[in-house]
Amino acid sequence: MQRVITLPDLRSARLSFSGTVGLVPTMGYLHEGHLSLIRRAREECDHVFVSIFVNPTQFGPKEDFARYPRDLERDFRLIESFTDVVWTPSAEEMYPQGYQTWVEVEAMTKPLEGAMRPGHFRGVTTVVAKLFNAVQPHKAYFGQKDAQQAAVIRRMVRDLNFPLEIVVCPTTRELDGLAMSSRNVYLDSEQRKAATVLFRSLSAAKELYEAGERNAEKIRGKMRDVLAGEPLAEPQYVSCADYDTLEELDEIKGKALLSMAVFIGKTRLIDNFVLG
Ligand code: PAJ
Repeated sequence: MQRVITLPDLRSARLSFSGTVGLVPTMGYLHEGHLSLIRRAREECDHVFVSIFVNPTQFGPKEDFARYPRDLERDFRLIESFTDVVWTPSAEEMYPQGYQTWVEVEAMTKPLEGAMRPGHFRGVTTVVAKLFNAVQPHKAYFGQKDAQQAAVIRRMVRDLNFPLEIVVCPTTRELDGLAMSSRNVYLDSEQRKAATVLFRSLSAAKELYEAGERNAEKIRGKMRDVLAGEPLAEPQYVSCADYDTLEELDEIKGKALLSMAVFIGKTRLIDNFVLG
């Protein structure tokens, strides 16, 4: 595994490969969810690039940028046997003095995460566009765990004609259903138990759907009821939206996205299921 930091080094590493290249963008502190993306890239591409960059522009001023968990040496050990190039750019090179160019996807970034985290998706799409331009991969891999992010990036790729394919991989979970996340390390043991409520709430809603319920408000109500049963959980939003437009539904007709953001103490967790 080659480790590169600067753009010139990244470019010369990239030029040394013929054949297909898969890119897995991450913010590091890697877990099994990230590794499942890298494995999929390994299966489908001749060469695998992983980027690790805690992107400052996608964090709000009151969010956890400064304390976001970081351990590059551990990350390198986890991926070295099946990664060709790991790129850890510096913030100075990604956003030099005078930086002023942004990529913004409009309507799809307004609800859900976009409503709760103003500016978040502008930071995500901008950094992902820069990663795509630098690496020029044939395929790039994202997790269904961040459903809106994956949808927004797909839209950006389509709208701006990036010549690559976006592959969205299933959410990797702990045995008790908790979606794996770098932020799970913030949870103490009591909070960790409480955190299963997101999965339990989504599962209950899915059961209701499978029993024939198509009224979206009843589905949202079910999710809220289960969340209300967990005293440590403070829901921020609960949604049953159209899978493609992310608009809130009255009635489920086609594919729907059930999603939620829930505070467990100070830790903000998100999760989702796709119905239909
Ligand atoms: P990060 O949170 O590190 O996630 C990197 C990728 O791993 C994302 O595509 C995310 O959806 C995926 N992922 C995270 N947890 C997962 C899980 N439990 N199962 C499957 N996939 C999972 O998402 C980001 O970084 C950043 O926004 C980034 C795209 C790198 C831009 O800065």
